[in-house]
Amino acid sequence: MLRLENLSFSVHNNGESKLIISDINLEFKRGKLYGITGPNGGGKTTLAKVIMGILPHSSGHIYLDDKDISLTNITERANLGLAYAFQHPPRFKGLTIEDLVKIAQPKLSNLSVRKKMRDVGLCPEDYLERDMGSALSGGEMKRIEILQVLARNAKLAIFDEPEAGVDLWTIQRLVDIIVSKYHNNPEAAAVLITHNRNILPMCDEILVIEEGRIKHQGQRDLVWPLIRDDIICQVQDTCGGEEII
Ligand SMILES: Nc1ncnc2c1ncn2[C@@H]1O[C@H](COP(=O)(O)OP(=O)(O)OP(=O)(O)O)[C@@H](O)[C@H]1O
Ligand SMILES: [Mg+2]
Repeated sequence: MLRLENLSFSVHNNGESKLIISDINLEFKRGKLYGITGPNGGGKTTLAKVIMGILPHSSGHIYLDDKDISLTNITERANLGLAYAFQHPPRFKGLTIEDLVKIAQPKLSNLSVRKKMRDVGLCPEDYLERDMGSALSGGEMKRIEILQVLARNAKLAIFDEPEAGVDLWTIQRLVDIIVSKYHNNPEAAAVLITHNRNILPMCDEILVIEEGRIKHQGQRDLVWPLIRDDIICQVQDTCGGEEII
């Protein structure tokens, strides 16, 4: 469905060019859930932003259903069915949560908006009228961001670290919703950018991105055993020997 061909992205600072995404080739197919992982600074978020047209690619091509969309802008890509839940969601002061969901999916009935809010753990009575610029917590912002993308019914939905800042009870529910919506869906696919060792084994395929390149790519049963121990070691290192989930 979405195919990346020799995709690269570089930045230019003080006359120097730095390659952030380097010659990426991959395809996301309908009905599958993809997990993208890798060390901090590896280029995962940058890749998502280049796919969405938020950042301009430097070379290569992006094809959606065999149509070259490399030169389309962010709005056109959103209209073509690409959606992205930001790692750090922006705050839209002056808009309520209800406004935001209705912008994402104008066809939703009030009842459906409420149901979708409950799905992501937001009680409509408390949140429907809340202003997006007000003091929403990081975890609340993440849930709203995920809610918007789920409401959109995109062809390809990219969730950038959906677990970050979200409590353990809600994470499992959110991931279950994402898996049930996209796994074996003949119309759509989803990408979960994550460091979570419980989420990655739920994906059909796993990609590891390191230093802007794909280090591993393939079916979960092939890739997960290669990286499982590294992820557990990283978690232990950052937590002084204690394992967290
Ligand atoms: N505009 C820019 N100028 C310079 N460096 C940049 C720019 N944008 C991104 N980078 C660098 O590109 C690298 C990749 O960043 P990116 O945010 O894509 O990593 P990531 O894999 O998503 O990391 P994390 O797991 O921490 O979210 C980082 O080293 C970052 O500092
Ligand atoms: Mg990132």
